Amino acid sequence: MEKANLTQLFSSFDDHWSPKIVAELNGQHVKIAKILGEFVWHHHESEDELFLVHRGRLRIEFRDRTVELKEGDMLVVPRGVEHRPVADEEVELLLFEPAGTLNTGNVSNERTVREPGRFSPTATTGTGS
Ligand code: NI
Repeated sequence: MEKANLTQLFSSFDDHWSPKIVAELNGQHVKIAKILGEFVWHHHESEDELFLVHRGRLRIEFRDRTVELKEGDMLVVPRGVEHRPVADEEVELLLFEPAGTLNTGNVSNERTVREPGRFSPTATTGTGS
């Protein structure tokens, strides 16, 4: 068991739209990402997805409404529901979802990350990978 500190983890990388796995439990992955700008509309066929904003303001657009998340807010997007995250400013985001969940869901494009990097709590002082 090693404790992890989110602030420290977020300070160890700069790239956007590149989720990193920071923990794994019960078949679920805890991922963190920095995002800026618009993502793609997508849904996840069989995975619910939890969004938790660590820093910044995130807008999650749905076909019928938009939900604004500020620091400390979280939201579960149920499987099958189309969504598009939009960050007008840089957002530090934590995601909780089943291992293997693709960031772009049913869509495959340049934003798709098939093998998210992994962080271990003790290896956050380097460049990250
Ligand atoms: Ni999604």
